[in-house]
Amino acid sequence: MRLTDHSVLITGGSAGIALALAREPLGRGNRDMVCGRDPERLAAARAALPGLHFFPADISRDEDLRGLVAVAEAEMGGLSVLVNNAGVQRPHNFLADDPETVLLDAHRKIATNLIGLITLTAFALPLLRRWPEAAVLNISSGLALVPKRSAPVYCATKAAVHAFSTALRYQTERDAPNVSVLEAILPIVDTEMTRGRGNRKTSPERVATEIARGMAAGRGEIHVGLVKVLVPLNRAAPSLAARIMRDG
Ligand SMILES: NC(=O)c1ccc[n+]([C@@H]2O[C@H](COP(=O)([O-])OP(=O)(O)OC[C@H]3O[C@@H](n4cnc5c(N)ncnc54)[C@H](OP(=O)(O)O)[C@@H]3O)[C@@H](O)[C@H]2O)c1
Repeated sequence: MRLTDHSVLITGGSAGIALALAREPLGRGNRDMVCGRDPERLAAARAALPGLHFFPADISRDEDLRGLVAVAEAEMGGLSVLVNNAGVQRPHNFLADDPETVLLDAHRKIATNLIGLITLTAFALPLLRRWPEAAVLNISSGLALVPKRSAPVYCATKAAVHAFSTALRYQTERDAPNVSVLEAILPIVDTEMTRGRGNRKTSPERVATEIARGMAAGRGEIHVGLVKVLVPLNRAAPSLAARIMRDG
């Protein structure tokens, strides 16, 4: 697909991967609106990228999502690309941690990583369908395919995003072929989310470049960095892939 002349909404774009996307491939030649919760982070991002709209919104709140879509319609002339990026990850040990704490955090993660993504997609689709060429881009993870021990709920939300993206793609391919449903499956990336852990991290800038390349090539699933190795390995030798990813 073409990457310019779009009205783009990026969730969770005040930092990390989405900010890199907004800075380069999706920021250039488009009208961009970016949301996040923390006003200070949003202000810093606005100062760094003055041409973009920054809008405070919490992806886990339906009323904020309705507001985002209304602003896109009123101030950007609609919406042609929705990037569902906002996500949270926190480790949990179901056998050692307090169950109430685990449950509260699980609800928050599911509300942000999964229900918010599904809700915003549902609200945005009527706008996206009006454009000759539109896309929903869901940001997921290699952990959707091969989970790790330390973050069961996070891995479960990403696996659900993977299945949701695939099934929604089947729907739009048949009934709304102007709307592409894309899923970027990422390796470990060097952002706040992974601070102090992991190695061989990919930079957010490289992720943004690879996503843009995949979008331009019209790939439904965009495998970024080491995910290009993980996917065939998981197909050929799933128990080896599980052993490698388990302690990640
Ligand atoms: N980093 C990795 O290794 C990695 C690997 C695979 C996939 N991913 C996925 O990539 C996406 C981005 O991750 P990242 O590494 O860039 O994370 P990050 O650096 O922690 O940034 C996350 C962004 O999401 C925003 N956010 C969090 N909760 C939100 C909410 N409820 N409503 C609105 N905005 C919210 C944060 O801003 P506020 O806190 O101000 O709201 C921030 O701008 C996530 O979906 C993540 O699961 C990351």
